[in-house]
Amino acid sequence: MDLSEAMRTTGATRNFTEEPVSDEVLHSILDDARFAPSGGNRQGWRVAVIQDPNLRTQLGELCSPAWGEYMAQVAAGEIPFSMVHPTQVDLKSAAENPPNNPLLDDLATAPVVLVVAVDLEVLAVTDRDLDRPSVVAGGSVYPFCQNLMLAARAHGLGGVMTTFLARAETQIGPLLKLPTNHALAALIVLGVPQHQVTRLKRNPVEQFSSIDRFDGEEFVL
Ligand SMILES: Cc1cc2nc3c(=O)[nH]c(=O)nc-3n(C[C@H](O)[C@H](O)[C@H](O)COP(=O)(O)O)c2cc1C
Repeated sequence: MDLSEAMRTTGATRNFTEEPVSDEVLHSILDDARFAPSGGNRQGWRVAVIQDPNLRTQLGELCSPAWGEYMAQVAAGEIPFSMVHPTQVDLKSAAENPPNNPLLDDLATAPVVLVVAVDLEVLAVTDRDLDRPSVVAGGSVYPFCQNLMLAARAHGLGGVMTTFLARAETQIGPLLKLPTNHALAALIVLGVPQHQVTRLKRNPVEQFSSIDRFDGEEFVL
């Protein structure tokens, strides 16, 4: 598949057919994804291929409270889990009453479930000393995750990268024997899409690009 077309059509797929994904195909996807960049080429990603249906069910249950918190913040007109604006939502009660989420509720029968972690000991985090949360740290693992999504697309598969699991790292970590000084980065579900997305809704270039300074003239052709 043409690279540009792949980038333009790799959307979030949350509904899959019952068709299984072979270990050969999954291995090939991981084998492509490993060419992702990372700070200092440290390649700190780790992947748990979650096959045990009981583990998957527990993962879904542990992620569900974050879905409740997310939806309650959306309903309140907030940017969920904003680093900048504190929430006005009662997160505790939102977490206790999450709405249904078919992806999480049916994790046991999903074609492929991956948990991606990252080894914090090998990350070069150049913004670690700034008086704000780091964004650079994630830059050494999320390109790998997106590579994985693109590699899956090349096999006619779709999927979604989710970060619900980070809210429950203290419970999911021990469940999956996450090593010390590792962080959970993503739970990725893959499979044959029920419907292939062909048009993604994204902002045009001139909306996010400017010349010389961020308040400069729009970069337009
Ligand atoms: C860093 C990151 C975190 C995300 N977390 C979640 C998540 O927790 N749950 C979920 O359903 N989707 C999650 N997504 C998927 C986004 O919702 C999706 O990429 C976005 O809505 C665009 O969807 P589209 O590609 O179908 O247009 C995440 C995506 C990224 C890149």
